[in-house]
Amino acid sequence: MMPFAHVLLTFLIAPVVSLVGSVPISSRDVFAPPVTYPHNGVVWYCGDRYNVTWDTSNPPEQITNNEGTIILSHNGRLLLDHSLADGFNIMDGRVEVEVPNVKVGNKYSIVLLGDSGNQGETFRIARHT
Ligand SMILES: *[C@@H]1O[C@H](CO)[C@@H](O)[C@H](O)[C@H]1NC(C)=O
Repeated sequence: MMPFAHVLLTFLIAPVVSLVGSVPISSRDVFAPPVTYPHNGVVWYCGDRYNVTWDTSNPPEQITNNEGTIILSHNGRLLLDHSLADGFNIMDGRVEVEVPNVKVGNKYSIVLLGDSGNQGETFRIARHT
């Protein structure tokens, strides 16, 4: 399967699948660590590098999928052509990303995908003048 299609399926379908209960994942094994940076008030500049961070302090005993993916979201829409990072360990608590050359503005947020999806607070992307 294409990576983006996989991500999309994980994000959109996984909650439905666990409701139906057709996969052997108990809810306590689902780990959706909250994104702690970037948060409200942060400004990122196109082309610069930053560490996205998240809180790994409450992991379940067993993590079903410990491989993380980070996608940029704008105004609630996943920018699937701007996957920022993938293949890192969800227990790392941070991963360095480069800000793509997107339209400047507010309402950007980070979506962290592993077992489940988690969206951070909105922040702004600007361009160096
Ligand atoms: C990200 O964090 C690592 C580890 O603390 C550090 O070495 C690196 O310089 C940081 N990157 C940025 C862009 O701040």
